Amino acid sequence: MSTYSTAPAQPDRRITLNDLTAMSSRGERWSMITAYDYMSAGIFEEAGAHALLVGDSAAMVVYGYDSTIPVSVDELMPLVRAVVRGSHKPVVIADLPFGSYQASISQAIETSVAFMKDGGAQAVKLEGGAPILPQVEALSCAGIPVIGHLGLTPQSVHSLGGYRVQGRGEAGEILIRDAKALASAGAKAIVLEAIPADLAARVTEMLDIPTIGIGAGSSTSAQVIVWQDLLGLGADKPPKFVRQYAQLRAPMRSAVENWIADVASGEFPGPENTYQ
Ligand code: KIV
Repeated sequence: MSTYSTAPAQPDRRITLNDLTAMSSRGERWSMITAYDYMSAGIFEEAGAHALLVGDSAAMVVYGYDSTIPVSVDELMPLVRAVVRGSHKPVVIADLPFGSYQASISQAIETSVAFMKDGGAQAVKLEGGAPILPQVEALSCAGIPVIGHLGLTPQSVHSLGGYRVQGRGEAGEILIRDAKALASAGAKAIVLEAIPADLAARVTEMLDIPTIGIGAGSSTSAQVIVWQDLLGLGADKPPKFVRQYAQLRAPMRSAVENWIADVASGEFPGPENTYQ
């Protein structure tokens, strides 16, 4: 059964970003998890996730690219559709991939409209501060709920010089200005990735919209996580900000090893798996 700490007026409708803002203003923390397919979306809904992010992290965990930069709208669109089909309650957010919104307002609107009309998403997320304010403002005016993303913005990995903590020293003041500007431009929430906890706390305190932390300490309004990190599917050591709640890689591998061995020995299929 799904469990939600909020009780929407119409129990059958999806949660909206406005519901999440209301939760945050009541001091209730909520959770966003990535999802890229039908079955995981259903599991995360059953677990009570409030928001499902079809992140451009799919570039790495679904498609095997070495960064989020190569993934395209065409590659993310089927994943958005699958997550929408697999869930009924959480808000589904489509991440706008690199190169699909930076060029112009009309490009950002076109991509977002596609994710909403063809994909069925209810909101979009994009990365960056001052340079993309016109896009955030135009999307909001067009009735498209937008989530911002500041701090470590993986689409800018080459200009940031790697995946490292952002917002230390002077850069913290710039991030604060960007956060305020995104909120004024109409962003409904802001992801804060890999920044010092005290900076995230300051940003959260000064905004009327929720902050969603990933590697930003415990004071943000909400948390977001890539599910393969949370559930221990990757081969590599996870980053410091990840707490693994399961280590699924080893049992998955050993289950498949057992099946392969049973196939080889003739042990599988057994009589119970066989039609007469
Ligand atoms: O793409 C993604 O999964 C994200 C989250 C890590 C915030 O942007």
